[in-house]
Amino acid sequence: MSILLTGGAGFIGSHTAVELINAGYDVIIADNLSNSNEKVIDRIKMITNRRPKFYKIDVSEVEELCKIFDENDITGVIHFAGFKCVPESTKVPLKYYRNNLDTTLSLLEVMSKYKCNSIVFSSSATVYGDKNPVPFEENMPVGGATNAYGKTKLMIEEILKDIAMSSKDFSAVLLRYFNPIGAHPSGLIGESPDGIPNNLMPYVTQTAIGVRKFLTIYGTDYNTHDGTGVRDYIHVVDLAKGHVAAIKYATEHTGVEAINLGTGKGSSVWDVIHAFEKANGVKVPVQIGERRPGDIDECYASVYKAAELLNWRAKLSLEDMCRDSWNWQKNNPKGYESIWQYKNKWENVKSGYLVAFYIKYFIIYFLIHIFLLLKLYFQVAYLVEQAKTKTREFGAFKEINDNYPKYILSLDRANFSEDGIIHKNIIEWLLDI
Ligand code: WQD
Repeated sequence: MSILLTGGAGFIGSHTAVELINAGYDVIIADNLSNSNEKVIDRIKMITNRRPKFYKIDVSEVEELCKIFDENDITGVIHFAGFKCVPESTKVPLKYYRNNLDTTLSLLEVMSKYKCNSIVFSSSATVYGDKNPVPFEENMPVGGATNAYGKTKLMIEEILKDIAMSSKDFSAVLLRYFNPIGAHPSGLIGESPDGIPNNLMPYVTQTAIGVRKFLTIYGTDYNTHDGTGVRDYIHVVDLAKGHVAAIKYATEHTGVEAINLGTGKGSSVWDVIHAFEKANGVKVPVQIGERRPGDIDECYASVYKAAELLNWRAKLSLEDMCRDSWNWQKNNPKGYESIWQYKNKWENVKSGYLVAFYIKYFIIYFLIHIFLLLKLYFQVAYLVEQAKTKTREFGAFKEINDNYPKYILSLDRANFSEDGIIHKNIIEWLLDI
């Protein structure tokens, strides 16, 4: 039984691949690596000792998808592929509609062609909008997403509902994630955002490790217990296990079910910061900033449906999430990137130059120090010799002084110049005494 993970090289996809393999599934990953790194495939093998089959494709390409279905016996699909940056989606909505809808429509066409009828969709709590009371329940009205990212999630949920209505064999589980954070306890896979992180936890870990000067708390005037935004943070490993339960459910049932994946508990920004500092014994420098547009006061899940239908609930605590996030950050300061593996060649060249510069700088620095040390050594040696000479002179002088009459009397006329100056060689002779 193979499960296809579209976008499976990403943060949640890679953790889901690990838990699926641990549960005995064969895993196939299709990803264009636009927001992930191929290194993660090796890391999954390091954790599970089994390497998922990897196809580097754009999931919107029907022919590429057909090739995967031709080469593998796929019984279910977990669909992660899609852009997911909320702020970016407000700036370039068309990019989000084109990519997130095209990938989904191509995938569903090919699934239909190959009679693969089970899908788990990576949806989001964003679909609840900001009008519903917390905790959000799956039967509450959805809509009111304030950004293109959230609206594409909503549209795809509607597409899947319509397909289920038209095909009695079709099964879809719409997993509405709350706030996934943390990392696999091995520290081998984790969240590796490109550039400046949008989400709270990667910003916290990058601040704690010194990549960022401080964390900005976006607003302290929300209607919450301490004025900062409250969210339902869930450990990404718990979330991944929720996907294993969901694909099992999807392959054993038909119809569409929306299911929240959260802990049912809300934590504020300060709660996260304090839990992080307590779990890891590090300080997170913060500054207070203005509210971020589109943020809501509170967002946390009702978790009864997941427990009832999937027999799943989150088990790991906020401290576990903070500890594992920090472990990942410490072990991977540049995420999956390393100084030699920038995405484009010029970056590698630059980084090569950078390393060469530092090596050259070190060699020069080392040689200068060697020169200065040698100079100091010879200066000291010279001064020691001088001191010895002076001592000798003093000794000689003392010798002469003590025995002056004897030596002078031993000199004769020939040892003096016309004007009575004693010859240099006499002095040397005297000094050699
Ligand atoms: C959490 C809290 C911020 C950063 C988003 C998407 C959601 C899902 C998860 C994809 C908020 C505050 C944050 C910072 C801060 N995305 N914050 N300083 O916005 O709840 O959810 O990510 O699956 O669909 O909407 O998550 O981590 O960005 O913010 O104070 O530097 O932390 O105001 O209260 P969010 P987040």
